[in-house]
Amino acid sequence: MVSATSPSSPVIPTLVFLLSLPVLFFFLAPHFLPSRQKTASLLDEMDDISLFQKAVSMDTANYSRGPTRLPAAKSRLASTILCPKIAFLFLTNSDLQFAPLWERFFSNVSIRHYNIYIHADPFVKISPSEGVFKDRIIPSERTQRASPSLISAARRLLANAMLDDPANTYFAVISQHCIPLHSFKYFYSFLFDLGRLSRNLRFSSYIEILDKEPTLWDRYNARGENVMLPEVNFHEFRVGSQFFVLTRNHALMVIRDRKLWRKFKLPCLNVHSCYPEEHYFPTMLSMQDPNGCTHYTLTRVNWTNSVDGHPHTYHPPEVSPELIHTLRKSSSSYSYMFARKFSPDCLNPLMEIAESVIFKD
Ligand SMILES: *[C@@H]1O[C@H](CO)[C@@H](O)[C@H](O)[C@H]1NC(C)=O
Ligand SMILES: *[C@@H]1O[C@H](CO)[C@@H](O)[C@H](O)[C@H]1NC(C)=O
Repeated sequence: MVSATSPSSPVIPTLVFLLSLPVLFFFLAPHFLPSRQKTASLLDEMDDISLFQKAVSMDTANYSRGPTRLPAAKSRLASTILCPKIAFLFLTNSDLQFAPLWERFFSNVSIRHYNIYIHADPFVKISPSEGVFKDRIIPSERTQRASPSLISAARRLLANAMLDDPANTYFAVISQHCIPLHSFKYFYSFLFDLGRLSRNLRFSSYIEILDKEPTLWDRYNARGENVMLPEVNFHEFRVGSQFFVLTRNHALMVIRDRKLWRKFKLPCLNVHSCYPEEHYFPTMLSMQDPNGCTHYTLTRVNWTNSVDGHPHTYHPPEVSPELIHTLRKSSSSYSYMFARKFSPDCLNPLMEIAESVIFKD
């Protein structure tokens, strides 16, 4: 493209200026940045902030300026009733091992009802190059355990999905180890329950929010004693799963936030108590809108005999119709919709019971 431009074009000075930016940055950086790694994350952070601002301003413009001059909440409800979509946000640092199962989940479903977005670590190859996962990867950065990078990834997914389609109304975060426990239709009718609408109840987010965990104090102080103050008091600190289903309103809250992120992005001193993504979302939503959340996740996970922060991973001999039925059951009034973690070789036994069990409801 550059070679096709004539020498007198104003593109050249602009290019020179742009190319000199990294050089300038290189000379300036050492004065205020301790390491190269920090440099990269600062630039990423600047990208993220401009992405989030774009999404926030688009959302505000879309929903508060209706021709009918409805109050923002009402016009949002109106567009929700017309053609609400679920945004499926796949967060992965490996291939999408259950892609064929998800393909079946989405088969026969109109694209008027959903969108898919993938945040994959760079250098990870996502094998499904056809079908519903084709070209769905958003600009992604590397994620790591015991770092705030998983929070950033989830926020990037939310912001991209909000920007991409105003009809995205619910946002479901899914990992590569997650499987569906019901059909799309079941999940969709559950989320957009017409009974709720007619009773004028507002839509809730499905996110686990817990406050009585024995490890909470250590996790609160993982970045140093009382570092979270004054933004987050210990009595406001919460824990929950990072696999949640949020309303658009709550997704907006999450990408708008600067205050809590300032604290949660700090590196941990104690890596054994460092799970920022399990705290950031539940803490923020319980501080800002506790009554808008069910405090309950739709993703089943088995913590029995967990090792090093990893839940039980299911293997092929455990996969059966009975397992699916058991995993659906919850202590709440509604069923679990997803489950994790499953090892990649569970794909075949799961495909065998896909139509007859998983998507039969
Ligand atoms: C999708 O439609 C095909 C035929 O149109 C049918 O054979 C199949 O069972 C359907 N799958 C689901 C999951 O409904
Ligand atoms: C949970 O995992 C344990 C092994 O850690 C297993 O014995 C148990 O059957 C699992 N529970 C369910 C409901 O799958």
